[in-house]
Amino acid sequence: MKKTLLRLSFGIFLSFATLHAAQKFDAETGLIIAPGFEDVKTNCTVCHSAKFITLQKGDRDSWLSMIRWMQKTQGLWKFEPKLEDTILTYLSTNYPPTKASRRPNLKLTALPPNPYSK
Ligand code: HEC
Repeated sequence: MKKTLLRLSFGIFLSFATLHAAQKFDAETGLIIAPGFEDVKTNCTVCHSAKFITLQKGDRDSWLSMIRWMQKTQGLWKFEPKLEDTILTYLSTNYPPTKASRRPNLKLTALPPNPYSK
């Protein structure tokens, strides 16, 4: 019994420890350390701060469209398909869209009168 308890609490301790370890951040860039992190750090912090990434959220498609936009207009180079896949997986896994990134609009009744409406 005592042994079981001991094992159980050690198990709980371990899962907390791994949970805690699950999100590590790169001290230099603030990027989450996860698979693909090295590739993103190498390719995506050349022209601008990684804050552009860590403050951004998006699914795979929206990350891809940001990359395409930079490639078309900002001189970002093309990636090999495998590297692009790694980068997109990293970005959409670690910086996914959140349900509410902004508060909902106020109700009309909570607003002052609109001075422009007659
Ligand atoms: C060749 C230079 C260059 C590289 C490399 C580069 N970017 Fe950018 N990126 C830019 C420029 C320029 C902007 C626009 C800056 C501005 O708005 O003033 C930008 C903007 C962004 C934005 C902000 C978009 C927005 O609308 O808020 C994000 C996010 C971003 N980049 C992510 C990335 C990611 C991810 C990578 C790696 C795949 C990357 N960047 C690599 C040049 C680059």
